[in-house]
Amino acid sequence: MAQNNIVWHSHALDRAQREKANGHPALVIWFTGLSGSGKSTLAGALEQALFAQGIKTYLLDGDNVRHGLCSDLGFSDTDRQENIRRVGEVAKLMVDAGLVVLTAFISPHQTERQKIRELMGEGRFIEVYVDTPLEVCEARDPKGLYKKARAGELHHFTGIDAAYEAPEQPEVYLDGSQPIESSIEKLLFALKNDAILPT
Ligand code: ADX
Repeated sequence: MAQNNIVWHSHALDRAQREKANGHPALVIWFTGLSGSGKSTLAGALEQALFAQGIKTYLLDGDNVRHGLCSDLGFSDTDRQENIRRVGEVAKLMVDAGLVVLTAFISPHQTERQKIRELMGEGRFIEVYVDTPLEVCEARDPKGLYKKARAGELHHFTGIDAAYEAPEQPEVYLDGSQPIESSIEKLLFALKNDAILPT
């Protein structure tokens, strides 16, 4: 560890008090899937639905976070690990602040996702696997990146020449080729039915 002689300071106002004031638990809803699978769109639509119900939310999105917090990182395995580690730490702070945090990152490695699950603690990491076949993502290709990857202009592209490890037991499984509305319904049902969020 780079820092020694640093002692954790517990503050008087804690997560439990913020959750009580907000009227809902604080947790992370972690979307994972290939580029173009629909993670950001689904996370954005779910955030709107939750926000409309008075839930305090914040969305952390891969493409946006890589403009600032992680602008020094690329797409090697080591950089992706660091990207996800930072996002996990930021999400943890936001959960401490009482929020329902939605994240949309490819987050291709099982080990990294597991570390964040452990960091968040029991019941505070809801993994959502957006399962969209590579062919579908590639046909969508909203940013033209698959085309570049196939042409050899872009390397370490997830699904082409970098691995994606699908979650084995996600809390919510979404078929990414289904309409957004039905996926949001499924998500809301899972969150309320499993008493993760208030009905
Ligand atoms: S992660 O692997 O570290 O979790 P992250 O979600 O932050 O990735 O960023 C993914 C986005 O970066 C993709 O949606 C795509 O727009 C862009 N991107 C640029 N280069 C790559 C690459 N080599 N592999 C995957 N995505 C890339």
